[in-house]
Amino acid sequence: MSDLKQSAFNQFSNLSARLNLDSGDAWQVHDQALVMKKAGDDVVMLSIGDPDFRTPEPIVDNAISHMRVGRTHYSPALGELNLRRAVADYESRISPLACSENEVSIYPGVTSAIYSVMSCLLNAGDEVLIVDPLYVGYTPILTALDLKVSVVLASPEYQFEPQLNDFKSAITDDTKVVFINTPGNPTGAIIPLETLQALASYCLEKGIWLVCDEVYSMFTYEKPHISLRTAAKQLENVVVIDGLSKSHAMSGWRIGWVVAPAELTQHLGRFSAMSIFGCPQFIQDAAAFALNNDEYYVREMCAQYQTRRDLVCARLSQMPGVKYLKPESGMFIMVDISPIYKDDKEFAQKLLNAEKLSVLPGSAFGTGTTGHIRLSLVQPENILTEGCNRLERFLQACLSDQ
Ligand SMILES: Cc1ncc(COP(=O)(O)O)c(C=O)c1O
Repeated sequence: MSDLKQSAFNQFSNLSARLNLDSGDAWQVHDQALVMKKAGDDVVMLSIGDPDFRTPEPIVDNAISHMRVGRTHYSPALGELNLRRAVADYESRISPLACSENEVSIYPGVTSAIYSVMSCLLNAGDEVLIVDPLYVGYTPILTALDLKVSVVLASPEYQFEPQLNDFKSAITDDTKVVFINTPGNPTGAIIPLETLQALASYCLEKGIWLVCDEVYSMFTYEKPHISLRTAAKQLENVVVIDGLSKSHAMSGWRIGWVVAPAELTQHLGRFSAMSIFGCPQFIQDAAAFALNNDEYYVREMCAQYQTRRDLVCARLSQMPGVKYLKPESGMFIMVDISPIYKDDKEFAQKLLNAEKLSVLPGSAFGTGTTGHIRLSLVQPENILTEGCNRLERFLQACLSDQ
């Protein structure tokens, strides 16, 4: 082949170039830990974000029975009506404003739902306002779409809850979308009703879309989840995204949904028709079954996460020099190690080297959690206890080196 032709195969789109990001050091320690574990090392992995529970058995059985009766064909781009109705019923149960299936569309997971919504709302160069700290998976989506990103900082001083006045100061005439996440990853913070309500009204007044990722909605401890749809007085500019990956331990099934005004839902349907072209029927059937029937299992898993959270928090409260906020939701605990060690990435690396404990550095999630480490609760209690033993030993060693 000529050099000229060959060089054509080294050239890719601008989108490919943008996505070829350096993911920084976020996953460096986690990736090393996986290699060590594979090689037989006794590594404790507290850096994982995938539920360790199995998908509840009745959901699995439901999917299998639907496969057996031939629910294995193409599905409408917006999703199967039975699931869209189940989502609309669920949303109507948790919000004073009724939801109809015309406002619901189905996706293979929340990630795909977010990408679809942003694609239908924004052009390259448009401004989106996000909250720092944020879920690491958002950055590639915003980058892929070539958006201008501005940031509201949610600091530990306010339990990582973003403040209304900070949103108001960060919103400009160019802001097209405000993108929030409650309950939040990585901090578990729940945005209070008053903030959501006032933010929704402010955005409506300014002609700005308010998009909320609520993938941890069924995953709250002492406080109930407050959906943006519950808080907002009007829904013209409100988009809620949710799914079953976390609450139902169904991350690999890939099921998420968007609840949005009917006109936007029609655009989303056209977007899906040329991109995902529908989700598997038997998975949608099982997801509808899950939403209609399985609150017991969700409560059971949530209670176990809560027990794990309490166990780890009780241990952290005995450890020297660190601070933490007891998360209100989700499966992570952010631990402030800055009084003991300045650089969170270096801390995570040394912790892995010294104690074979894998955690994520907080700086991976933004400025708000820099100086922290993220401990994940998706391990059984004996592993969490062992992880805490190792962390405590390492902290003591750091202190005695000072
Ligand atoms: C806040 C948040 N949104 C979205 C996702 C991805 O969800 P899904 O697996 O349904 O794409 C995650 C996964 O960790 C998350 O934490």
